[in-house]
Amino acid sequence: MDQPGQENATITRTEQLTPDIFRITVRAPGIAQAARPGQFVMVRVADAYDPLLRRPFSIHQVIGPDQVQILFKVVGKGTGILARATVGRELDLVGPLGRGFHITRQQPLCLIGGGMGIAPLLFLAQRLCQVPEKPEILVLVGAGTRSELLALARDLEQLGLAVRTATDDGSLGHHGLVGDLLAGLDRRARQAYVCGPYPMMRAVAGQCRVLGWSCEVSLETMMACGLGACLGCAVPRGQGDGYLHVCKHGPVFDAQEVAWR
Ligand SMILES: Cc1cc2nc3c(=O)[nH]c(=O)nc-3n(C[C@H](O)[C@H](O)[C@H](O)COP(=O)(O)OP(=O)(O)OC[C@H]3O[C@@H](n4cnc5c(N)ncnc54)[C@H](O)[C@@H]3O)c2cc1C
Ligand code: FES
Repeated sequence: MDQPGQENATITRTEQLTPDIFRITVRAPGIAQAARPGQFVMVRVADAYDPLLRRPFSIHQVIGPDQVQILFKVVGKGTGILARATVGRELDLVGPLGRGFHITRQQPLCLIGGGMGIAPLLFLAQRLCQVPEKPEILVLVGAGTRSELLALARDLEQLGLAVRTATDDGSLGHHGLVGDLLAGLDRRARQAYVCGPYPMMRAVAGQCRVLGWSCEVSLETMMACGLGACLGCAVPRGQGDGYLHVCKHGPVFDAQEVAWR
């Protein structure tokens, strides 16, 4: 399946990482084979009319030839329903959607994730580790507290990557923001891949510009269709007039394409 498609995916595993962070693995061979890092799926969380709209989630991992994983935090009704889903249930997915990260030969590389923005970085890290002559990769991840980072940092470390952590409460790694970790790095030109809350990405994109690093960001907006039809995910262009539509032109953009506000 090269084009995005609809797939009835069976849940094969559920994990609760913290009281409100969950990981769900589904068997979805079409999406698994076509997916690229940074792409997302639209999930119909319930057969009922409420919530009516599908919810977007980054592809967190592709496991083997036919399984896909999403990582999510419960923030409302849709994610609450997903958190209660059990093994064997079918989930209606559409994907893979959007434009993902560019896999570059430029190195060293720096992956920077904040909160649930870490979700697409594991898949990206796995694919980067598969390229011939594995590049030098540093991963910087931040979250509110230790429990939100432990499992994700471990998964990244198991790929053999250097991982540095930051937490708001100082319970793991640097006490402060993940962007603070950039200050301690050497100033070699790097390619940065960034995903996290908007203020964090805006700050990190600014730091990368000062450092002279190339920077790709994965944006999140409210999404109704995920397919470029409703125009509800528009963000202003950084260069020229008009708007970018996050679901169709992104969610991954060169940081310079975005008008940061
Ligand atoms: C491309 C993309 C990838 C995403 N990947 C992930 C992921 O990997 N893991 C994850 O946990 N979440 C991800 N999200 C966000 C996720 O889609 C929302 O958290 C989810 O749709 C909320 O659904 P809900 O019904 O639980 O909450 P709702 O009841 O719809 O909303 C609850 C609260 O969350 C806010 N909210 C809902 N959706 C968004 C959004 N897209 N951006 C900002 N605020 C929002 C609402 O304003 C409201 O305050 C992604 C969003 C996009 C656009
Ligand atoms: S979500 Fe409908 S156009 Fe992007």
